[in-house]
Amino acid sequence: MTAKVNCRLGVLVSGSGTNLQAIIDHIESGGIAATIACVISNKPDAYALTRAANHGIPVVIHENRNFSDRNEYDKATVEILRKHDVELVVLAGFMRILTDTMVNAFPNAIMNIHPALLPSFPGLHAQQQALDYGVRYSGCTVHFVDNGTDTGPIILQSVVPVEQDDTEESLSAKIQKEEHRVFPAAIKLFAEGKIQVNGRRVRISP
Ligand code: GAR
Repeated sequence: MTAKVNCRLGVLVSGSGTNLQAIIDHIESGGIAATIACVISNKPDAYALTRAANHGIPVVIHENRNFSDRNEYDKATVEILRKHDVELVVLAGFMRILTDTMVNAFPNAIMNIHPALLPSFPGLHAQQQALDYGVRYSGCTVHFVDNGTDTGPIILQSVVPVEQDDTEESLSAKIQKEEHRVFPAAIKLFAEGKIQVNGRRVRISP
């Protein structure tokens, strides 16, 4: 894979957008040669939209309740992303499962951050799942999105210890600190053309 001159990102969000903020900050400080071409939210009141607007990034409110079918919603999302010439789709707290329509439109070019060490604890409430299971370590995973739920090839992971008195909130806060480091790092690798996918295995060039 060759380096992108200025990789165009489409960031999908549903909530607070702290990961979006970390990506914006890394781009603005010159750490990643990328441009956020658009931020798309399925929630009109997502604070992530305010963060994007504060940095002059085009935003699109794209509510799923206006679509009867998940496939139609994703078709429309692909159109928005194409219109903005997006090369890498970044799911930064986008709380919807993608259909094949989206996944097949951007093969190995959709990245997701998940708040657990996959393949453990996929799906919702990953931090609580980890606490309930009693693991001593959890963390976060950046992976490409494939046709399953949180099953795609793993790009980067970061580990955090789980303490005896951790709650869902305290564990989430520790994990988010790592998310804000590894997500921009993975995007940087992609923008520099340093990621190769071979089946399930991701090779990162030095
Ligand atoms: C992040 O912690 C991310 O790992 C999680 O949503 C949060 C979004 O926070 N994503 C998932 O659980 C996806 N299955 P943010 O809006 O502050 O970036």
